[in-house]
Amino acid sequence: MTKRVVLAYSGGLDTSVAVKWIQEEWGSEVVALAVDVGQEPNANAEYWEAIRERAFAAGAIEAKVVDAREEYGSRFVANAIKANALYEGKYPLVSSLSRPVITRHLVAAAREFNADAVAHGCTGKGNDQVRFEVSLRTLAPDLEVLAPVRVWGFTRADSIAYAERFGIPITASLDKPYSVDENIMGRAIECGAIEDPWNAPPEHIYERTRAVADAPADSVECVVAFERGIPVSLDGVPTPLHQMLPELDAMVGAYGFGRVDMVENRRVGIKSREIYECPGALALILAHADLESITLERDVMREKSRLETRYAETVYDGLWYSPLREAFDAFIDSTQKHVTGEVRLHLQPGQCTVVGRRAERGLYDFALATYEADDAFRHEDAAGFVRLWGLSVETWAKRQRIEEPTVRP
Ligand code: ARG
Repeated sequence: MTKRVVLAYSGGLDTSVAVKWIQEEWGSEVVALAVDVGQEPNANAEYWEAIRERAFAAGAIEAKVVDAREEYGSRFVANAIKANALYEGKYPLVSSLSRPVITRHLVAAAREFNADAVAHGCTGKGNDQVRFEVSLRTLAPDLEVLAPVRVWGFTRADSIAYAERFGIPITASLDKPYSVDENIMGRAIECGAIEDPWNAPPEHIYERTRAVADAPADSVECVVAFERGIPVSLDGVPTPLHQMLPELDAMVGAYGFGRVDMVENRRVGIKSREIYECPGALALILAHADLESITLERDVMREKSRLETRYAETVYDGLWYSPLREAFDAFIDSTQKHVTGEVRLHLQPGQCTVVGRRAERGLYDFALATYEADDAFRHEDAAGFVRLWGLSVETWAKRQRIEEPTVRP
């Protein structure tokens, strides 16, 4: 029998009900742990204090808040940006990336409070249960994992009724049917009207992006500087990632850039309609990939781009703590040695585009590229090179190619 559980607590309906339900049904003491990964961009000390109080009101014996923003930015988000990680080509891993850092803190709290189990508030249909539980198995296989939401069989209305019965203060209501998860990488929105993939997302679900029609008429530019693949300053001001992302969200989101509407393949086999808004994250990946275009040697760049897809899948699938992700990061870090430089981003309604890039150790060689008088390219080398390049297919064509009916002039 579990005696004490550390619950990953968000302050939302399900995890608030879970605090009480675990005690009532399983007889365990509950320690609520809220991990700040930037889910509320304007959160202050009072915001987190209110979350703690709600946990106590739901019956927690202890409630703790950990500020993991800096760690999340520098040890998780930075890697994803270096990897240009976009799941199925579109989704910058918002929730997928935060679960492993939350898990680290769950384990630390379990040790601190002498708990024998940890719990999360994920349903049985999603990816987040996979990420929490696989991460927990690797970090602390001795801890039992409890998933109350997976077993209680409550509808949303049941949860609200349960909260009311036990006097648990909640802000949820039946007319807000969306499930939202957010952190400094962006917002993920599911359920409600968007479960029908034909329905256009209603404008009111967005918080970090404006509609294109409401974007400022004047365009602006901003400059992001990178060091070894990591964004380090914005418009000349040194800024750590966990601060740069909210700043960029505001700047880029105002122009209506950063929305993703997709049907994605969950790890558990379900196709799911998801809406994301990640203006800052998408702008940084765009800028980073562009800087790589002048700093990575051609073959390194091609090989890296093959791995980027697998990197995103590995993290999405809950395998952050795996030898494969570590090996990918080792390869990627070795490619980033000279990904140092600046990228100019141009913002106009609905668009964020790269309009300039420079790098001190870049591989772009003006003397080789120019068509003007300074040209240093050895034109005489080209004819022989091209002849040998085509020699193999020329031979094939002479000996084996079956003549296709040629178009007569
Ligand atoms: N589909 C996304 C993912 O698997 C987002 C999940 C968001 N979770 C949530 N509770 N709304 O990474």
